[in-house]
Amino acid sequence: MQLDSLLQTATERFETAGIEQAAADAQLLLAHVLGCNRGELLAKVFVGERADEQTSDLFETLVLRREAREPLQHITGKAYFRNLELKVGRGVFVPRPETEMVAGLAIDALRAIASPNPIAVDLGTGSGAIALSLATEVTHATVWAVEKSDQAMPFTQSNFDAYGLGAQLIQGDLSDAFQELNGKVSVVVSNPPYIPNQMIPRDIEVRLFDPEIALYGGDDGMDLMHLVSATALRLLVPGGTLVVEHADSQSAQVCDLLQNDSWRQVRAHKDLTGRDRAVTAIRA
Ligand SMILES: C[S@@+](CC[C@H](N)C(=O)[O-])C[C@H]1O[C@@H](n2cnc3c(N)ncnc32)[C@H](O)[C@@H]1O
Repeated sequence: MQLDSLLQTATERFETAGIEQAAADAQLLLAHVLGCNRGELLAKVFVGERADEQTSDLFETLVLRREAREPLQHITGKAYFRNLELKVGRGVFVPRPETEMVAGLAIDALRAIASPNPIAVDLGTGSGAIALSLATEVTHATVWAVEKSDQAMPFTQSNFDAYGLGAQLIQGDLSDAFQELNGKVSVVVSNPPYIPNQMIPRDIEVRLFDPEIALYGGDDGMDLMHLVSATALRLLVPGGTLVVEHADSQSAQVCDLLQNDSWRQVRAHKDLTGRDRAVTAIRA
């Protein structure tokens, strides 16, 4: 069958299943099956290439999974984040595009530290997206990361093994991790679970496939934010920077929480779509 026809059929089926980026997902899935990138796939389509039976059969199996709203990244086993290609799958949170901006805030803060070997900490690292971005983009820094989930850890460990020069991973709870680093850290960053327990996400991919421990943050979604604030106060040097991600409706709530915890220069930051998605603050 022609690659073009495979793509068209898959796109229509994905649209019927309610998938927003139907055409893009069909292309990324077929590129995955063919072992090429999306640009190379489109070149093959342009010259009218055909798929052999084995390719068509494998593609059909993966289309069925995506139609059932399994996340594309779980099917391909890969997620792209800044300059990284991360291993992901069932049990670990798939890093989101908006978190790239949050990592960028932490990278800027870390680069501004006048030390030959500043320390940064990522609380609740998941796939390692933020920590490994810091480690690969600020190579003179030492980056520490903590993750609690047994299900996430195999993915986290594998990503740290692949990229982790200058990055150290521990399994534990962010509330009491890194006692040995108390008062020594320049930047703490976290994208904690922040969805209120009763607010079940609408997206099927999130609701059914993202781990609950990565999503829910108590009755008002702020349970982990309180713990992140307390841990960051313990870890940071005076003048050190905290960067936290939150839901677009939570900016005022997070700013209040940090001001009440005596943080200075509490500032809200927007993502590329203009929504408030992060707060930075300085330890007194
Ligand atoms: C929203 S995900 C963010 C993952 C990753 N930092 C990212 O931005 O893609 C939150 C992560 O925090 C982890 N987590 C939740 N509670 C934790 C705790 N008490 N201690 C350490 N990690 C925790 C979850 O397992 C999950 O990996």
